[in-house]
Order: sequence, then structure tokens, then C-alpha cells
Amino acid sequence: MTTLLHIDASARPGRSGTHVHGSHSRRLSHHFVSSWLATQPGTEVIYRDIGAAPPSNVTGEWIASGYTPAAEREPWMHAVLAESDALIAEIRRADVLVIGVPMYNFSMPAPLKSWIDNIVRVGATFDFDRSRENPYVPLLAERNRRTVLLTSCGSSGYGPGGFQAHLDLLTPGITSPLALLGLNEVHSLAIEHAEDHGDLLDRSIASALARVEALVGELQAS
Ligand SMILES: Cc1cc2nc3c(=O)[nH]c(=O)nc-3n(C[C@H](O)[C@H](O)[C@H](O)COP(=O)(O)O)c2cc1C
Repeated sequence: MTTLLHIDASARPGRSGTHVHGSHSRRLSHHFVSSWLATQPGTEVIYRDIGAAPPSNVTGEWIASGYTPAAEREPWMHAVLAESDALIAEIRRADVLVIGVPMYNFSMPAPLKSWIDNIVRVGATFDFDRSRENPYVPLLAERNRRTVLLTSCGSSGYGPGGFQAHLDLLTPGITSPLALLGLNEVHSLAIEHAEDHGDLLDRSIASALARVEALVGELQAS
């Protein structure tokens, strides 16, 4: 059975097109999951609404616990890492990560950064081997997991070759840490012009929804 891990990171609770002031990235991620289920209804979906319930920020205790070898951890350390354990377990279970995320100040919302800080953990999702030129060893590369990045931004031109491509800290901010873990296959698409409204936004939404459906078909076929 295929498992989707569906994550939403927008601070806005509803979906655009359905709720006034709703989120475009939530609309895209919902459309991806519902399109997937339409043809593969037996798929398991794990849902994490990070925008509504942000993971805890990493603390000094978290770092001390994470860098203590598992066999030497004290009970309080296991308790501190319990949330991180749960978030990592969801990724281990998943075949496809579907992440709906807005651009905030050229980067990602803070709750998604907290999620990343919780899942990038030495000894759990990556390791060091200092005998290698590249010392990072991904620990989630035992099978291919795909990542689908569904973003939304107020203006446009953040994609490759775009006039603001150099300002896109959102995409590499997510894909670089995921690559460290061994998640290298990323499919990305965006709704642009959210702050322009009108025809520009309408066309961007229609195009993104169509590309989501095409991507679902492509991923299910391969
Ligand atoms: C705090 C904040 C920061 C934003 N920063 C940017 C930005 O740097 N670039 C941009 O194009 N749009 C920016 N926007 C616009 C959002 O990316 C846009 O409204 C997007 O649709 C929000 O995602 P959502 O619809 O899923 O909530 C920002 C919006 C907010 C609320």
C-alpha cells in the first residue's frame, strides 16, 4: 500500500476557492491528495497540519538528547525527543511527501522550519562518516521517497530563470535538508500572483491545479 504524508504549513486555516481568505497552498495540497485518492482509494494518508499545530522549536535539551547515543540516553532525553521520533516515523512510513507551503519573506513559515529541525537528526535520519570527503550519510535512502512541493507566493518570478530566482530561499531551504536524509526526488509547482488577484491569479491557479493532476498521473504511472 502506498502512503502519502500530507503536510500543510500555511498560517491560514481554510482553502482558497472554498473559504474566504483561504490558503492557496492548502488548496493545492488538498487537490493533490484528493486527485490521488480518486484513482487509488486504498492509499494511506497521514496528515500533519503544521500551520495549525507547529512542532516544538529545537532547544538546548533537544540538542543534548539528540547528540547522546540512543543507548546512553536518560529517560528525560527520550521524552524530549518523543515529538521528533513521531515526526521521523511518519516520514519513514511515507512513500510520497506532499508539502503545501507558502512563501513568507522569501523563505518558509517558521513552523515548517521547526518541522525540519526536528526531522534532521544525527543518528536517526543522517549520520557522519568523517573518513569520506562528503561526511554526510543519508539514513532514509533505503528506498526512493518522492517529495511534492506545492507552494504559493504573492508575486512571481522565483522559479529557475525568473527575475527573482535568486531570492527563492523557500525551495532550497526545504530540498537541501531533505537531500541530506536521502530524499532527492522533488517535484515542485507554485501558485503565483496571490497578491495581484484578478486574472493573473486566476490563470495561475487554473494552471497549477491542472499541473497537480498531471503530476498525480505521472507519479502513479511510474
Ligand atoms: C508573512 C508573509 C510574508 C510574505 N512574504 C512574501 C514574499 O517574500 N514573497 C512573496 O512573493 N509573497 C509573500 N507573501 C505572500 C504569500 O506568499 C501569499 O499570500 C501566499 O499565497 C500565502 O500562502 P497561502 O495562500 O497558502 O496562505 C507573504 C505573505 C505573508 C503573510
